Amino acid sequence: MNNTKRPFIASISGKGGSGKTTLTALLLKVLLERSSNDSILVVDADPATNLPDVLGLETKRTLGEVIEDFRKKVNEPSFAVGVRKDSVLEYWIIRDCLIEAEKFDLLPMGRGEGEGCYCYVNSILVGIVGKLLRNYDVVLMDMEAGLERLNRRTDRYVNTMLIVVDPSRMGFRTAERILEVIDEVDIRVDKICVVGNRFPANMIEGLYEWADRRGCKVAGVIPEDKLLLEYSINGTSLLNLPSNAPSVEAARLIARKIALID
Ligand SMILES: Nc1ncnc2c1ncn2[C@@H]1O[C@H](COP(=O)(O)OP(=O)(O)OP(=O)(O)O)[C@@H](O)[C@H]1O
Ligand SMILES: [Mg+2]
Repeated sequence: MNNTKRPFIASISGKGGSGKTTLTALLLKVLLERSSNDSILVVDADPATNLPDVLGLETKRTLGEVIEDFRKKVNEPSFAVGVRKDSVLEYWIIRDCLIEAEKFDLLPMGRGEGEGCYCYVNSILVGIVGKLLRNYDVVLMDMEAGLERLNRRTDRYVNTMLIVVDPSRMGFRTAERILEVIDEVDIRVDKICVVGNRFPANMIEGLYEWADRRGCKVAGVIPEDKLLLEYSINGTSLLNLPSNAPSVEAARLIARKIALID
């Protein structure tokens, strides 16, 4: 656990179906290949909560479900008398939501109950999530498709944003929109990169040209990987992919490029 250094917090966003969850799993895989003792948290910030499945893990409860419970109970006179209410919520989140795998933890966010308001529960939640993230060296966040509505609970902490683009008009359009939203809301991140997914070789140059025009960098391209698709169809954890699978090798290069690994 590292309390002095700033954690490396990367978010992975992009169009629906572009490969956000896949890229998150592949980056986790290359992180776990190293012998480093860095503590790793993976946040599933997509309400569809697909990531545990892709990593072969059982979900406990989502943060959204626990918040809903807390919201219902917090005003009952007998609720947690003599104990700070934010400590109770923090305890519940760690006990009920955090999935502890062998070398990493996973937090499924679930639905963003009442996310639009700045009520008491949301304000303490921001503090709890922030505190939790600071307990890790590396945090990877698999975001909700589109990201038109930025996720207030988590985005504020991100320092590297990866935007997945697939070779489709909508893939590029969504990436454009995400870049505009980042500008509009003046999110301060150290690095914004795009990652091409499933690009055929003859379209890669076009991706680099597009990124150049937009003034952002391409962190790399993940090729179409038949084995990965097979794993995904069979429900085999992507963490079990061989280290020399084309998608894993591409993810390793991306992880180096964004300085996630040496
Ligand atoms: N490089 C690749 N090679 C082969 N299959 C891939 C590749 N990338 C993604 N896929 C497959 O495409 C499908 C969609 O990918 P994924 O679930 O990662 O997208 P997503 O952006 O997370 O989708 P959603 O918006 O629904 O969360 C999955 O079945 C996945 O296995
Ligand atoms: Mg997904």
